Amino acid sequence: MRKQLFIALVAVFALAFALPLVAADAPADGLKMQSTKKPVVFNHSTHKTAKCVDCHHLVDGKENFQKCGTAGCHSTDAADKKKADSYYNVIHSKKAKMSTCISCHAEAAGGDKAKKKELTGCKGSKCHP
Ligand code: HEC
Ligand code: HEC
Repeated sequence: MRKQLFIALVAVFALAFALPLVAADAPADGLKMQSTKKPVVFNHSTHKTAKCVDCHHLVDGKENFQKCGTAGCHSTDAADKKKADSYYNVIHSKKAKMSTCISCHAEAAGGDKAKKKELTGCKGSKCHP
């Protein structure tokens, strides 16, 4: 009985420590963004030059890895589309104070027309193929 309890405790501790480590060390590829008929696929492996906190900005001073469209965060409602912090705008705005997907892509493409189409275009871009 004691031995089983000990094993259970060890397992609980191992999980408690291992989970955050796994989450922090191996951010995934092939993540499907919300809101579009054909989901936009986000890959961490193509974004290694950015810091985690650039995208996973702090919430109440704490690191967070919730989905951008989590209730109470960036609204995916069509009616909220024009709000500065809507899901649409935190992805597409070029005027936002913080870096958005598109503002960084525009910077990365610079004057290169082909790259601009790939990284900041709509249909036929790498985001919306
Ligand atoms: C260029 C932006 C960007 C950077 C940099 C970034 N992430 Fe992410 N991350 C995302 C997006 C977008 C999602 C998916 C969010 C959604 O579904 O709404 C995500 C999801 C995640 C998730 C949860 C989903 C999963 O299954 O993996 C974890 C954990 C995560 N990221 C960890 C990290 C860590 C750790 C780093 C730094 C090493 C990092 N991310 C860097 C944009 C980024
Ligand atoms: C800090 C800058 C930065 C931010 C923020 C950023 N990206 Fe990127 N992204 C890049 C760069 C640079 C490339 C080009 C990488 C290459 O060509 O090797 C890229 C490439 C891509 C690609 C094409 C490559 C692939 O993985 O299929 C997609 C799709 C993409 N980004 C989606 C997103 C989404 C969605 C977000 C917002 C959640 C985002 N990016 C935010 C810098 C950024």
